[in-house]
Amino acid sequence: MSATSLETASTTTAAKQSLFPARQSRIEHLRDRFHQIRKFSSALCVGLEPEDCVVQSMPDVSPTKWHLAHTTWFFETFILKKFVPGYRAEIPEYAYLFNSYYNAAGDMHRRDLRGLISRPTLSEAERYRASVDLHIDELLSNSDDSLLDEIEPILILGIHHEQQHQELLITDIKHVFAQNPLYPVFRGGRARHSVRAEDRTAAECSPYRFVDFEETVTAIGHAGDGFAYDNEGPRHQALIPAFSLATRPVTNGEYIAFIEDNGYSRPEFWLSLGWMTVKEQRWNAPLYWIKRDGTWWNFTLSGLRPVDQSEPVTHVSYFEADAYANWVGARLPTEFEWERAALDRPIEGNFVEDENFHPRALPISGDDRHLHQMFGDVWEWTRNAYSPYPGYRAAPGALGEYNGKFMCNQYVLRGGSCATSRTHIRRTYRNFFQPEKRWQFTGIRLARDPE
Ligand SMILES: [Fe+2]
Repeated sequence: MSATSLETASTTTAAKQSLFPARQSRIEHLRDRFHQIRKFSSALCVGLEPEDCVVQSMPDVSPTKWHLAHTTWFFETFILKKFVPGYRAEIPEYAYLFNSYYNAAGDMHRRDLRGLISRPTLSEAERYRASVDLHIDELLSNSDDSLLDEIEPILILGIHHEQQHQELLITDIKHVFAQNPLYPVFRGGRARHSVRAEDRTAAECSPYRFVDFEETVTAIGHAGDGFAYDNEGPRHQALIPAFSLATRPVTNGEYIAFIEDNGYSRPEFWLSLGWMTVKEQRWNAPLYWIKRDGTWWNFTLSGLRPVDQSEPVTHVSYFEADAYANWVGARLPTEFEWERAALDRPIEGNFVEDENFHPRALPISGDDRHLHQMFGDVWEWTRNAYSPYPGYRAAPGALGEYNGKFMCNQYVLRGGSCATSRTHIRRTYRNFFQPEKRWQFTGIRLARDPE
C-alpha cells in the first residue's frame, strides 16, 4: 500500500500522527535518490579540468559543462517553474542555453555551437546545479502527499534523464580526449582488469555458439509499476519465429578477421548507405582504432593501448555491425528476439558503477548454454528501425517530446553498456541512434534463422 492510500484510509488523528513518518520516509527516499544521482554526475567529473569540460569535438558531442547545466535545467524547467509558486530563475538566459530540443519549452541555442559558450564558466554551472538542488530539496521537504503525487513522476523522469546524460558525458569526454595527440587518461582502470593486452589472445575467450529459441507469441514491452520510458509501451503481443542468438557479443579478435579479409573494401557485405559511408568517411576499422607497426591499438578512457582481442568489439556503427554479420553468414537480432531472449537473464554485467569505462572480456566459464553479457559492456545493435509500438501516443506538452519525435531514421539498441547505470537499464529498454553513429559503446551480437 502506498503512503497516499495509507493516508486516505486513515480517519483518526492518532492514526494520522502515526502515519506521518510514512510521508517523511517517502520524502526522504525521493530526496536521497535525487541527491545520489546528482552527486554521481559530479563524481564522474572528478579529475576533469575546466578546460576539458568546455570542448565540443563534433556536433553529436556536448561539452561536460553543458551536460551538467542541461540536466539541471530539466529539473528547474519541469519541476521548480511548475510547482514552486513565484519561482524566478536566477539567470533566465540559462533556459535558452541549456534547453536541448524541447520546442514546447521555448527557443534554444544551436546544438553544434555548444562548445563556443565559454560563459557561464564551469564553476558558474556548478553553482547553478547547487542552487537548483537546494530548491528541489526544499520543495520535496515541504510537499504534502498530493503534491508529491504530481512531482514524483517528473522527478523520477529527471533522474533517469540525468543517468542518460551521465552516459553521454562519458562517451563525449572520450571523443574529446581522443582528439588530443597526448591521449589523456580519464580513469586509470582497475588493477584486476589490467591484464596486458599483448598477453591476451582470442583463444582466451570461449568461442560463441548459438542458443535456439522456438517460435512463440509473447508479450513485448514494459509492464508493472516501475519506471519505464513511454517508448517501451504499450505492451503488446508479438509473434517471434524460431531463431538462434549468439551466447556472447563479437570480440575484437573476431572483428579483426573481418578487417583482414578486406571486409571494409568488399561492397557485397554492406548496405548501400553503409557502403557510401565507408567510402566517404574512409572507415577501415572501428572508431578509436589506429594501426601502428602492424598492430591495432585503440584509444580507451584509460589511454591508448593495444587492442585486446578477447574484449567485445565496440564503437561500431549499425552499418559495420550489419556488414560483419553478413560476412560471417549470420544477421543482427530483431529487438523482439533480443527482448524475448533476455527474459530470464539477470540484469548483471559491466556497468558504469564498476568504473571500468570499457567493455570487458567474458571470463572463461565453460557455460555455453546460456546467453552472456546481455546487459552492460556494449549496446547491441538490432535490425529494427526505431518506431512506435502499436497504440503508442506521445504525451502532450514538452515532455511528450522526450522520445516520440525521434522515431525516424534510427535503429534500436538493447542491453546497456559499460557507461550505463545498472539502475537505468531494463529488459524492455530501447536505446536508439542513427546507423552511422559510432561514438557510443555499441557492439554486435549475432543471430540467425533456423538451419
Ligand atoms: Fe537531455
